[in-house]
Amino acid sequence: MFSYYRSGLLSFSKKCLHLLPYSSRNISSKPKTGIVMLNMGGPQSADQVHNYLHNIMTDRDMIQLPIMQDRLGSWIAKRRTPEVQKKYNEIGGGSPIYKWTQKQGELLCNQLDKLSPDTAPHKYYIAFRYVKPLTEDAFLELENDGVTRAVIFSQYPQYSCSTSGSSFNAIYKFYKNRKYPKNLKLSIIDRWSTHPLLVKTFSDLIRKELEKLPENKRQEAIILFSAHSLPLKVVNRGDSYPSEVGATVQLVMQDLNYCNPYQLVWQSKVGPLPWLGPFTDDALKGYVAQGKKTFILVPIAFVNEHIETLHELDIEYCKDLAKELKVENIRRVPAPNDHPLFIDALTQLVKTHLENGPSVSRKFLNHCPHCVNKNCWYTKKWFKEICNS
Ligand code: FES
Repeated sequence: MFSYYRSGLLSFSKKCLHLLPYSSRNISSKPKTGIVMLNMGGPQSADQVHNYLHNIMTDRDMIQLPIMQDRLGSWIAKRRTPEVQKKYNEIGGGSPIYKWTQKQGELLCNQLDKLSPDTAPHKYYIAFRYVKPLTEDAFLELENDGVTRAVIFSQYPQYSCSTSGSSFNAIYKFYKNRKYPKNLKLSIIDRWSTHPLLVKTFSDLIRKELEKLPENKRQEAIILFSAHSLPLKVVNRGDSYPSEVGATVQLVMQDLNYCNPYQLVWQSKVGPLPWLGPFTDDALKGYVAQGKKTFILVPIAFVNEHIETLHELDIEYCKDLAKELKVENIRRVPAPNDHPLFIDALTQLVKTHLENGPSVSRKFLNHCPHCVNKNCWYTKKWFKEICNS
């Protein structure tokens, strides 16, 4: 099966990217199938940072502030803007997540057109949660195109109610006060943390990075799989993200034949409340104190580069912290980005889903055991009706 999809990989002209419209590709005829790519998004320039932070901090699905979410969230966003702008300036002025998603969508649709002619032409729609093109922009464009079959494809391989869940809630909210197009058949791919080609992508990237280490240090390198952390309150509510991230890690190490010691660690904690650990920087400190000197960092829950990889991992940990700790060797594995195996993973996921996937997974329709978010209840009920109609 693997070689079948590899053989379907198409060459892609970089020149095409400059011709693309706002959120999706130019195709000559009406798209038959829309692929809605959900993700958080990131500011493309420093002047978008405030709006981006404001949208995050006022989203109760993402962050539950104890009081006055709108006012307090707005205040925090304003206060944090200069510090976050500085970080974006240090990685070139903005997040590359839009560029990478656009490239992934283009490569995905090119392959799908070839491998799934019955559902072609395919068109991707970028649906970011906190910056343009927003979720509602994607659905407006999709409606405008007269698409009758659409797959909502979460670009978070591991599902969290704070990230993936928030995007699904946004879709429900968009249609709450708007007539749902009567000819539009909708289905969703909500999680894919154990997909074999996602696993192969990571193991290939790790292998290549291990090979760049001095030969006599290779075997002692500790592979630190780093994922965005969550508040413990969210974990204890029953969010499935930690176990899904763990599942990816285990399969990647199995594929690598457990070649090195490894550890799952968590990054990007904000605020004073307790979050899921051990944290990536603390783990580095701990291992160095134990005499370890060689590390490979793997952003296991990010499918493309953004601030958490380019600033937090590359600058704060691999450069500044490693220097302070006198780490001898440290390398960061790139995010999947446009790795051919990763594009094949995306293609296989959508193709299989269109052929015989469930329109909505049972896991998605179930709730966290301690869910108290009304949005989740409305959203899941709505998707159950819409996807099964
Ligand atoms: Fe997880 Fe509502 S918080 S389903």
